[in-house]
Amino acid sequence: MDSIEGKKVLVTGGAGFIGYNLSLALSRKGAETRVVDNLSSQGSLERMKKLNSHKIFTVVADIRHRHKIASLSKDCDVIFHLAAMASVPLSVKRPQYDCQVNVVGTVNVFEAARLTDAKIVFASSSAVYGTPTKIPIPENHQLKPISFYGLTKVVDEFYCEAYHETHGLQVVSLRLFNVYGPEARMGVTYDFLKKLWKDNKRLEVIGDGEQSKDFIYVDDVVRAFLAASQIEKANGEAYNVGSGDSIKVKDLAYKTVDRLGLSDKTDIVCGVTPTWIGDVKYTKADLTKARSELKWKPKIDHNSGLDNAIRWFESAYGKITR
Ligand SMILES: NC(=O)c1ccc[n+]([C@@H]2O[C@H](COP(=O)([O-])OP(=O)(O)OC[C@H]3O[C@@H](n4cnc5c(N)ncnc54)[C@H](O)[C@@H]3O)[C@@H](O)[C@H]2O)c1
Repeated sequence: MDSIEGKKVLVTGGAGFIGYNLSLALSRKGAETRVVDNLSSQGSLERMKKLNSHKIFTVVADIRHRHKIASLSKDCDVIFHLAAMASVPLSVKRPQYDCQVNVVGTVNVFEAARLTDAKIVFASSSAVYGTPTKIPIPENHQLKPISFYGLTKVVDEFYCEAYHETHGLQVVSLRLFNVYGPEARMGVTYDFLKKLWKDNKRLEVIGDGEQSKDFIYVDDVVRAFLAASQIEKANGEAYNVGSGDSIKVKDLAYKTVDRLGLSDKTDIVCGVTPTWIGDVKYTKADLTKARSELKWKPKIDHNSGLDNAIRWFESAYGKITR
C-alpha cells in the first residue's frame, strides 16, 4: 500500500458534503490538496474559505469546462472525482443538466486524468443497482437503475472500465450507499433534524416509512476513498461502500427522536407525502469484496454516527428544543 502523504491530489466537488470531509482528511494526512467546485449545490464559499485555512488550494470552476479541469489536474497523482448533480428528483426534472454534469463533466475529468497519468477514485452510487433482486446486494448484481441519476452513474462506471481498458487509466469506482454525518445538508437524517429543529412536536416521514436503507457514516466513506486510492489491485474495479446493514426509515425517525430525548413529545407521521420518483425502496450492501480487496470495513456504529450528526447539526443551526 502506497501512502497518500506528499501526493498531489485534486478533489472535484470538494466543497460538497463528502468532498469537504475527504479534503480535510487528505490534508491532515499530508497530501498537497486542491479542490474544485462550482458551488452549485451543497458547496459554499464559506466551506472554500475553511478549506483554505487548512492550506488547501481551492478554485471555483465547473467540471463541464474541460480546459479548466485539465489545467487544474496538471501534475496530480490522484483525482478524487465527487463533483456531480447528486439529486435523484432533480435528475428527473432536468435530465439534460444531469447528463451534462454527470456524464460530460466526468469524461472531462477522465481525459484530464489520462493526460496527466493520474489515478481516479470515482464516487458512484448504489443507485446503479435500481430495485435489488438480491439482498445484501453484491457488486455483480445487475445494473438496472430506476432514475436518470442512477443511469448517469452507470454510464460513468462504463467509462471507468473503458478508460481502464483503452488507456490503462487507473480508476476505481466506489458505490456509495446513503451517506450521513457532519456537513450533510441533504438526505434523510438531515431532513429529520431540520424538521425537528423547526417543530419538535411533529416529524413527518416522506413515504410510508417502510423503505429500508443502508446508512453509512461519512468518516467511513472517507476511509474507503483513501484505501481505494492506495491499493493497486482495486484498479478497474467497483466496490460497495455501505454499512452492510439497513434500517427502515420510520425506525430511523423513532431512533432520532429517541436519541434527542423527544420520544414523549414528538408524533411521528408517515404516509402523508409520497416518496420521489426514482427512490429505491430497499438497499443493503454486501461488503465481502470491499473487505477482502480494499481491506476496508465500516467502523462507526449507527448510534454513535447519529449522535455525531446531531452534535454537528446543533452546532451549525442551534439546539433542537427538548
Ligand atoms: N451523499 C450520498 O448519500 C451519496 C450516495 C451515493 C453517491 N454519492 C455521490 O458522492 C458524490 C458527493 O456527494 P455529496 O453527497 O457530497 O453531494 P454534494 O452535492 O454535497 O457534493 C457535490 C459537489 O459537487 C459540486 N458540483 C456540482 N456540479 C458541479 C460542476 N458542474 N462542477 C463542479 N462542481 C460541481 C457541488 O457544488 C457540490 O459541492 C457525488 O458524486 C454523489 O453522486 C453521494
